[in-house]
Amino acid sequence: MTRPFRERIARAAGAKKSSIVLALDPPANRRKLPGFAAKTIRAVEQHICAVKMNFHLILPLSASEISRINKLVHSYGLQSIADIKLNDIENTNEVAIDHLTRMGFDAVIANPFIGKGGLAVLVQEAHRTNAGVIALVYMSHPGAREGFGLEVGGRRLYREFLERAAGARADGIVVGATQLDILKQVASQLPVYSPGIGAQGGDAEQAVKSGADYLIIGRLIVEAVQPAKVAKEIQSKILSVRK
Ligand code: XMP
Repeated sequence: MTRPFRERIARAAGAKKSSIVLALDPPANRRKLPGFAAKTIRAVEQHICAVKMNFHLILPLSASEISRINKLVHSYGLQSIADIKLNDIENTNEVAIDHLTRMGFDAVIANPFIGKGGLAVLVQEAHRTNAGVIALVYMSHPGAREGFGLEVGGRRLYREFLERAAGARADGIVVGATQLDILKQVASQLPVYSPGIGAQGGDAEQAVKSGADYLIIGRLIVEAVQPAKVAKEIQSKILSVRK
């Protein structure tokens, strides 16, 4: 029987000795997206544990093109995450999970703003098909404080989102690498996925020291002249912090 997503990605990270999740976002105006995706995955697969796809690929590509990318991802022993920040009514979330798992995604990022019950149903539905759910807790961009940092009923919204994620048995949470204080607060409650390294100002070593379990990295690697070299350097930095 297939292991749960949380275990699959932990095993991939162990096997690859890397906790980098590659944000496979093509640069603006890039053409021939399937070719870009395949070339980038092949170049860096030894230095990452998972690939995250966002609207950059999910919107322009067909379901069969995405499925082929996911097959390539899996052929290298990597996991695949759909970053669509799912945030809708139960029925629509269920349909989305169904399409995403058919395309070969292992997990989806969701927004706990949908509510405790909605998130719990979404996680149950995903787990039924062996997929995982990673819940937003505090995003990486400066405007995150205007939402995730809002004070509601005497406490910050992200604390409520953290509780919802834990209560719903989500497989992980997203906290920006640009939010080191918040990373420290939430570390080791659920696996923490941290975007915002490089282009958004976050630092890989600081994020790992502050409790990030997985680092989501896009432009720093994808747009490098030598993506494999950059990915390998970050992989080594993370390993030396965790020694
Ligand atoms: P860069 O190029 O900034 O790409 O390394 C980061 C990728 O991650 C997405 N992103 C987020 N996804 N929660 C998420 O679920 C976040 O807080 C967040 N911040 C950035 C971004 O869209 C890109 O795909």
